[in-house]
Parts: sequence; structure tokens; C-alpha cells
Amino acid sequence: MDSDSKVFVAGHRGLVGSAIIRNLEKKSYKNVYWISRDNCDLRNKERVDAYFRQAKPEYVFLAAAKVGGILANRDYPAEFIYDNLMIQTNIIDAAYRNGVKKLLFLGSSCIYPKFPKIPITEDQLMTSPLEESNSAYAIAKIAGMRMCQAYKEQYRLNAISLMPTNLYGINDNFDLENSHVLPAMIRKFHEAEEKVTLWGDGSVMREFLHVDDLAEACYVCMQKYEDDEHINVGTGEDVTIKELAETVAKVVGNKSIEWDTSKPNGTPRKVLNVDKIKSLGWEPKISLEEGIKSTYEWYLKNYDKV
Ligand SMILES: NC(=O)c1ccc[n+]([C@@H]2O[C@H](COP(=O)([O-])OP(=O)(O)OC[C@H]3O[C@@H](n4cnc5c(N)ncnc54)[C@H](OP(=O)(O)O)[C@@H]3O)[C@@H](O)[C@H]2O)c1
Repeated sequence: MDSDSKVFVAGHRGLVGSAIIRNLEKKSYKNVYWISRDNCDLRNKERVDAYFRQAKPEYVFLAAAKVGGILANRDYPAEFIYDNLMIQTNIIDAAYRNGVKKLLFLGSSCIYPKFPKIPITEDQLMTSPLEESNSAYAIAKIAGMRMCQAYKEQYRLNAISLMPTNLYGINDNFDLENSHVLPAMIRKFHEAEEKVTLWGDGSVMREFLHVDDLAEACYVCMQKYEDDEHINVGTGEDVTIKELAETVAKVVGNKSIEWDTSKPNGTPRKVLNVDKIKSLGWEPKISLEEGIKSTYEWYLKNYDKV
């Protein structure tokens, strides 16, 4: 892929898709394309085929998906499995039929077992049961990854899959009904008068990667990664939810924190082994505090929109 290549970014308005576009623009890519959902619902095969026939992209970043936090996954499992299977199936198949040179599929670390060995290596996929609450989403992602491998085996489509950890950054979703833990915390701390109530006891540990670091990882993998096996993307370091809350409080403004221990804590630890992606020469550059600061600045500037 070079700066004259025709690149299609599916999911251009989202957290990940918009970061991939910013990164390609920074690198002076001149032919980066996207299409709005109004013009092309990616669940619709005819629309997707017509778009690929007309746009003829050479490289595809598949960052379009139905994404959400715990509550959304619990309430809309049918939409999570249907939308994700349709979007990825249509795009991967259209990429093959239209001679795409390389496709990068974005999965998620929720493909791994509920109780993995820490840190989570790529080979732990399907070694024990999934977390039940988002299994419809996780199974769609596993199918997308397997479809990339199958199209590579049978049709020689050059397709790779990345499994990122929890992401955050500008263009994140701050809606409390369907957002992830970090943007939800930023919003709660911003809107609280004095006290913020958080679920669990704050002891569980999670890993967070700034989306601009992920966008660079996607770029590096598009250039260098060719294996059939998926590849993890994360910092390889985790923090307790309590430490995360304290960092958000430091950035957004101190409020007292109350832990609602009647609510579940979730899996005790989830952190990825990132040796494989680091061996390609990539590493994360944005610290958690720095990333939360820039995300909060963006949130304040875009408060009306988000
Ligand atoms: N966010 C995370 O923490 C995280 C962590 C690990 C992996 N990932 C993966 O990264 C990828 C992108 O996630 P994200 O966080 O960027 O999600 P997001 O912010 O919700 O963005 C998803 C994008 O997909 C588009 N989209 C959804 N359904 C569509 C449809 N039927 N037709 C056309 N466009 C559609 C959305 O379009 P509209 O803007 O029009 O709605 C949006 O641009 C996903 O595969 C996800 O699994 C995310």
C-alpha cells in the first residue's frame, strides 16, 4: 500500500474508522474513500457489491460493525450477531470478487475465553467457554476471522484479522446506554455534582489502548503482517478500574467515588500478550493519562454532538 493506493475505510464515522482515516491523511494518502450508511447500508449485499464494482478499492480496512458495551450486548444480542455477520460477510466477499489486494478485518479481544490465562496469547482462541453476556457479538467476530482465513485458503484473498483490546479516544461513544467503560466514566465524572457511583469494587483489571495507537497498528499490519493467524493489539499492561477512575477524576475534576458492590465485577483480569505485534516494530505511544486528557478536551469541544 502506498500513498497513491485506493483505500476504502468501512465505518469511517466511528471511533476506529475515523482514526484510521486521520492516520492515512497524516501520511498523505490521496485516495482514501468511505461511503455513508444512507447511501450504502453495509448489511445490504446488493449495495455493497455495487459500491465495490464502482469504487474498485485496492485496500480495505473493515472497521464497520455494531459495537456497544455490556448493557447493549445484553439487550440486543440478535442485532449484534445479525448486523456483524452481514456487514463482514458482504465486505469480505465483495473484496474477493473485486480483486482487492489486501483486507484488514477488525475483531475484538472478546473472542477470547471468559477465564483466559494472563496475558492472553493468540492461541487461546476457543480453548474454553466465552463470556456469556457478549457471546453473540464474539461469535460473529470469530466467524469474520475464520472467513478471512477461508477466503485466503481457497481464493487467495490477502486478508488479515486484528484483535484489539478496549479502545478509547476522539469520536468515542459517550451514550451511557451503549458505551464502553472509559467514555462512560468520563461522562459520569463530567456530569456529576459531587459523587460518582461505579459498578463493582474497582478491583478488576483492564487494558486500554488509545485509538490513534490502534490506527498506526492497523497501518503497520497492512504493510507488514501476512500470517493466517489473527494478531493481538494492546498495550500489554492493565490497570485496576479503581486506578482508571482515579485517573479520570484527576483529568475531569475530583469527585468522590462510591463503589456499588451489589453490582458484578466481571472477569478479574483481561490483558493481551502483544509480543507478536511488537515484533513488527509497533508499540503504543500514548499514555493512559495523556490519552484521557485529549479525549476529554475533544468531549468538551463536541459536547453538543456527543
Ligand atoms: N471500541 C472499542 O473499544 C473496540 C475494542 C476492540 C475492537 N473494536 C472493533 O473495532 C471496530 C470498530 O469499532 P468502533 O469502536 O469504531 O465502533 P463505532 O464507533 O460504533 O463505529 C462503527 C462504524 O460502523 C458503521 N456501521 C455500523 N453498522 C453499519 C451499517 N449497517 N451500514 C453502514 N455502516 C455501519 C457506523 O456507522 P454510523 O456512524 O453511520 O453509525 C460507524 O461508522 C469493530 O469491529 C469493533 O469490534 C472496538
